[in-house]
Amino acid sequence: MEQPEHWDAARLAAWSEPQLARVEAALSRWVGVDAPVLLGDAMRYAVLDGGKRLRPLLVLAASESVGGNGEAALRAACATELIHAYSLVHDDLPCMDNDVLRRGKPTVHVKFGEADALLAGDALQALAFELLTPEDAGFAPVVQARLCRLLARAAGSEGMAGGQAIDLASVGMALDEESLRQMHRLKTGALLQGSVEMGAACAEKVAPSALAALRSFGAALGLAFQIVDDILDVTADSQTLGKTAGKDAASDKPTYVSLLGLDGARAEAVQLHREALAALERSGLADTGALRALASMVVERDR
Ligand code: IPE
Ligand code: IPE
Ligand code: MG
Ligand code: MG
Ligand code: MG
Repeated sequence: MEQPEHWDAARLAAWSEPQLARVEAALSRWVGVDAPVLLGDAMRYAVLDGGKRLRPLLVLAASESVGGNGEAALRAACATELIHAYSLVHDDLPCMDNDVLRRGKPTVHVKFGEADALLAGDALQALAFELLTPEDAGFAPVVQARLCRLLARAAGSEGMAGGQAIDLASVGMALDEESLRQMHRLKTGALLQGSVEMGAACAEKVAPSALAALRSFGAALGLAFQIVDDILDVTADSQTLGKTAGKDAASDKPTYVSLLGLDGARAEAVQLHREALAALERSGLADTGALRALASMVVERDR
């Protein structure tokens, strides 16, 4: 079989830049514009000017790999970022991780108060689903419904929210590897896997084998992402991260680093990266350069 073309960082940047510009413009148009003033400000503060936008890029890359509908992909890309931004606002609240720094700025509750932070999260979640079901959509109702279902499952009690509940219940505990893996798969992996699946769902028809391979790719990548987040919490500084470093140990959270050590955690991320790439090869899809490059970015990132 022909070797897939290698995308270096410059090639990924050249692909990402126009995609990111479209996502930023769309978010700016859609988020918090007609909301009551403080709520609208809090929503925009939470979403705009910050973040790596990995989930939107995964949606767009996955959609590209299957020839998905462009409008559906842009809306799905923004919807995943809104759920992610909402999860960060709530994750930072005093009742959860109690963080004061996010994306290089004071957290939403520090800036706007806890009540508006809570409401901004609620409203961002609702807006995500509204974006997927526009009036006069240029994509089929069945695609809209599939996108909503995938996002709901990724965000809910069997996805992000469930994982966050396990996270909070696990403070001070030494989880075994299987329990830790399950927590990470839910709290972070589910939305990243969901982003890949939503991208694939932007095409009305995709071969079941390609869909299964993309799902495996997303699962491996999603877990690798949170393992790297655990590693960076130990190895990076707050300035680089844009959030407070060293929080996991300070809060006595079980992580891949606390369980396996730095080298063990790194080895796990490398193994998952391999699994993700192998899944893409199995997909039989031709146009997977961006997905491959994003997978490398996830394990090699420094923030
Ligand atoms: C941070 O996610 C929270 C986790 C799920 C680990 P990101 O590292 O993607 O945060 P941003 O979007 O770039 O700020
Ligand atoms: C958060 O995990 C996952 C979410 C669902 C937001 P973390 O608590 O490790 O994320 P950071 O390190 O605060 O970004
Ligand atoms: Mg947390
Ligand atoms: Mg946190
Ligand atoms: Mg973390």
